[in-house]
Amino acid sequence: MTNYSAEYLDAYWMPYTGNRDFKKKPRMIVGAEGSYLFDDKGRRVFDGLSGLWTCGAGHGRPEITEAVSKQLATLDFGPSFQYGHPLAFELASRLAALAPGDLNHVFYTNSGSEAADTATKIARAYWRQSGQPTKTKIIGRQKGYHGASWGGISFGGIGANRKLWGLGLDSDHLSHTQLKDNLFCAGMPSRGAELAEELEDLVALHDASNIAAVIVEPLAGSAGVIPPPEGYLQRLRELCDKHDILLIFDEVITAFGRVGSMFGAQEFGVIPDILNTAKQLTNGAIPMGAVLVKAAIYDAFMDAGGPEYNIELPHGYTYSGHPVACAAAMASLDILENDGLIDRVKEMSPAFAQVIHGLKGTQYVTDIRSYGFAAGLTIESYPGEPGRRPYEIAMKCWDKGFYVRYGGDTIQLGLPFIAEREEMDAVCNALAESIGELD
Ligand SMILES: Cc1ncc(COP(=O)(O)O)c(C=O)c1O
Repeated sequence: MTNYSAEYLDAYWMPYTGNRDFKKKPRMIVGAEGSYLFDDKGRRVFDGLSGLWTCGAGHGRPEITEAVSKQLATLDFGPSFQYGHPLAFELASRLAALAPGDLNHVFYTNSGSEAADTATKIARAYWRQSGQPTKTKIIGRQKGYHGASWGGISFGGIGANRKLWGLGLDSDHLSHTQLKDNLFCAGMPSRGAELAEELEDLVALHDASNIAAVIVEPLAGSAGVIPPPEGYLQRLRELCDKHDILLIFDEVITAFGRVGSMFGAQEFGVIPDILNTAKQLTNGAIPMGAVLVKAAIYDAFMDAGGPEYNIELPHGYTYSGHPVACAAAMASLDILENDGLIDRVKEMSPAFAQVIHGLKGTQYVTDIRSYGFAAGLTIESYPGEPGRRPYEIAMKCWDKGFYVRYGGDTIQLGLPFIAEREEMDAVCNALAESIGELD
């Protein structure tokens, strides 16, 4: 079926979507394999964002299908409160072994938004547990994205995601690091490390005794791919240590290969106190997030005393550590390892950078940023309509057989880790053509 009546389309209130626009011209995806989506007209569309930064190993991996099917037939669900199943422990040990430093305890969620809530709840509870109950404020960063929950929209820093909701959680924001001095930079920009010093200003304003944590994406994804300036994350780490503030990395996009290392923390050489993951953890096949927490934080809860049957952290989700999600995650990690996909991203990212930065000089393209298999283009706005040109570009690309993401005044690419050089050329050619067709 390719003709959908207005009635058929009406009931579903689509997330982060211009519903009225979509329902006039639906873009229905009915299948996927490898680096391609298939639409309801039988067209093959290159998946230039790996789903939603989720499916780096490619769609329809039989290893994941098999692991998930087997798990469903063995244990489809088990209560995650007060009871456990072996695979959740196995996966946690595996993640702990892969993670840098002593990020060796894992709390499962179902999404990146829940991971943001979980990490910041743990941070606040940790200080309360440690006799510093006033440390509650969360410091995010402008242009940061941490999901759609009350936490995420409070310490997140994308205005469009915040302005509709009114008062959220107690939070404040560092400046973003997207500087005019760094235009058209491949990799980490050289300028901007000093922006981390703003944490000193926020400490002067709020006092460290009121600040629980700083949360940042090591590389900001949803705002249009903003790699960290050289030295910036290191300085943020130093200042958090100096003021006894926990540092949380939201690695929902950067974990599991996107930037050419298992974690952004390793790629950028800075270890946070808490590290959030989701998306690529299961290659997008089953919803799952995992919050990695350093030993000292976990131990503070375990060592707090009280009867052992008492719940140390009254937090969790019905589907935390869902057996089927755990099976998908184990299979997905196997694929990353067996196929050497993270090394592949690292090896091929200079080629990708060359291709994407070849768009410099194209009309309306005012900046290009890239790292690993992620890239963002800033598009000059129509007066008063920052989102329109990126939308028009993405729609033209879709018609040409290429899916790219548009958001704010940006176009974003997050190539499948299996993407070939010709596919990089093809998606960039489609972008150039689409931008060329604009008025
Ligand atoms: C860095 C980051 N954090 C959190 C989220 C929210 O994840 P979810 O949509 O799974 O709740 C996203 C989603 O794009 C993200 O990019």
